[in-house]
Amino acid sequence: MTKLLDVKDLVKHFPVRGGVFNRVVGNVHAVNGVSFHVNKGETLGIVGESGCGKSTLGKCVIRLQDPTSGEVHYGGQEITSLPHDAMMPFRRKMQIIFQDPYSSLNPRLTVRALLKEVLLFHKLVRGGAELDARIASLIQKVGLRPEAADKFPHEFSGGQRQRIGIARALALEPEFIVADEPVSALDVSIQAQVLNLLMDLKDEFGLTILFVSHDLKVIEHFCDRVLVMYLGSVMEEIACEDLHARAKHPYTRALLGANPINDPDERRPLTVLQGDVPSPYDPPQGCPFAGRCELVTDRCRAEMPPVEERADGWRVACFEV
Ligand SMILES: Nc1ncnc2c1ncn2[C@@H]1O[C@H](COP(=O)(O)OP(=O)(O)O)[C@@H](O)[C@H]1O
Ligand SMILES: [Mg+2]
Repeated sequence: MTKLLDVKDLVKHFPVRGGVFNRVVGNVHAVNGVSFHVNKGETLGIVGESGCGKSTLGKCVIRLQDPTSGEVHYGGQEITSLPHDAMMPFRRKMQIIFQDPYSSLNPRLTVRALLKEVLLFHKLVRGGAELDARIASLIQKVGLRPEAADKFPHEFSGGQRQRIGIARALALEPEFIVADEPVSALDVSIQAQVLNLLMDLKDEFGLTILFVSHDLKVIEHFCDRVLVMYLGSVMEEIACEDLHARAKHPYTRALLGANPINDPDERRPLTVLQGDVPSPYDPPQGCPFAGRCELVTDRCRAEMPPVEERADGWRVACFEV
């Protein structure tokens, strides 16, 4: 297996300004030293509650945002330090699908105009009949009717709009796609259809996908491995097929709706996460999950547990499991 993406110790802090002089008074620690890789053709899920840094991580990986520090290697090339020009070919190969396709589609462009714009900008077709044929093929690939080409975004349902977002990403013949909560805004009945479409397209085009979701069930269904994040840090990384049997981190167990794995009292009701994620502005010392963890000790509050490899492809950041 070859690594397509290799992320090393990625950090993204957003400065917070305040006071009369508008000075930087602190930082939002959105992503706190995250490392992972994605193999070619693989789908890696990123799961965690809202605000834990998933979108920021996805954007930094494709350089829609510049990380504060850390490295992103794509196909062996470190890309965080590339100048604009050298980044261009990577921009085409790495695409993103957003949660809300409505806000990411220009409302004044028909589907045809929108696809034409990206196809011509990246010189993927010469125009004329070739352009028309490519647009028709993209529309068909994402399961829309040919008439869809001459409609505007507001004329579609949420699921159809997400199909347009997918068509736009596909138009660029990408290798790698960040799918940022691509079905979270859709009705449950529509979610499976859009997920199945993504799976089919992944196979057809040999795509590698970073799939961001707050919903572990969706990730389990769609991904090969999952990275569990909490407040900007990795808690666990594990193959999806091992999740129920092997996952140990108390946060992963809570997301699965299961008891902590070394809990002696099996008669306790299933873990239900209490409280909220702490603020990433001035985050707590030690393990970020300590405040909600059933297995917490003094050490957890003082020290951040390192992410340890437990077996091939399985990493856990916890002193207690
Ligand atoms: N452009 C930004 N400026 C300041 N803070 C931001 C910005 N983008 C995200 N954040 C903050 O970073 C944290 C992580 O956000 P985000 O990556 O969107 O999380 P998620 O996608 O997991 O919900 C949140 O506290 C959010 O408010
Ligand atoms: Mg997000």
